Amino acid sequence: MELRDVIQKRASVRHFNSDAVPEEHLREMVRLAGLAPSVNNSQPWKFIVITNRELLRKMADTVHSAVETRIPICDNEAEKHARAQVEWFSTFFGEAPAVIAVAQCPYTAIVDSALEHSNMTHEDINALRGHPDIESVGAAVEHIILAAVDMGYGACWLSGPLIARESLEEQLGLCDSWCLAAMVAVGKPEHDVLQKEKKPIEEIFELRS
Ligand SMILES: Cc1cc2nc3c(=O)[nH]c(=O)nc-3n(C[C@H](O)[C@H](O)[C@H](O)COP(=O)(O)O)c2cc1C
Repeated sequence: MELRDVIQKRASVRHFNSDAVPEEHLREMVRLAGLAPSVNNSQPWKFIVITNRELLRKMADTVHSAVETRIPICDNEAEKHARAQVEWFSTFFGEAPAVIAVAQCPYTAIVDSALEHSNMTHEDINALRGHPDIESVGAAVEHIILAAVDMGYGACWLSGPLIARESLEEQLGLCDSWCLAAMVAVGKPEHDVLQKEKKPIEEIFELRS
C-alpha cells in the first residue's frame, strides 16, 4: 500500500477476529519499528511480543484489578460510565491475537557529556528537551501501527494498562533499567473501522514564509 493510504486508513482497532498473527509478520513489524528515528540513534527500546493467551489474560486481569483498586466506584452515572470506559480501553488487549509490549531503557545523550561542569542533570536536560526518550519510543510505536495496517492488520496503541505498570513489568520479566513504555494490540479487525474525525488542515497548519 502507498504510505499515504496506510496513514489515511489507520484507525484504532479494539475488536479482533480470532485469526492468529504469524510470527514472521510480528517480526517484520518489530523490524520496521527498529528503523524509527531516536534521540542520538540511541534506540532505547526492545519489543516483547506476546501471543500466549494465558499470559495475555493474566496481564489483562492484573490491569483490571489495578483499575478496581485505583479508580474508586462512584454513584454518579457519568463517572461510572467513564470508569467502565477506562476499564475497557485498558483491558481489551487480553483478547487480542497479539500484543507488542514496548520497553524503554535510559539513554545517554551527547549533551550529557557536556553537563559535567553544569548544575543540570540528565533528567533536567531530558525534561528541557521535551523528553526525547519518550518521543523516540512514540516514533517506534507509530512504525509498528503503520506496518500492521500495511500488512492487513488493525492495531491500537495502549497506555491505559500502564496503571499496573510494575506488575506487568514483573510478568514480562523486565528488569534492570528497562521499563514498560507502551503496548500495541494487533490482529485482524473484526469489522471495518472508519478513521475518527480529525481537525481540518486549516486548523492545524500555520506557515511563516
Ligand atoms: C499515547 C497513546 C495512548 C493510547 N492509549 C490507549 C489505551 O490505553 N486504550 C485505548 O483503547 N486506546 C488508546 N489510544 C488510542 C486513542 O484512543 C486513539 O488514537 C484516539 O481515540 C484517536 O482515534 P484513532 O486512533 O482511531 O484515530 C492511545 C493513543 C495514544 C497515541
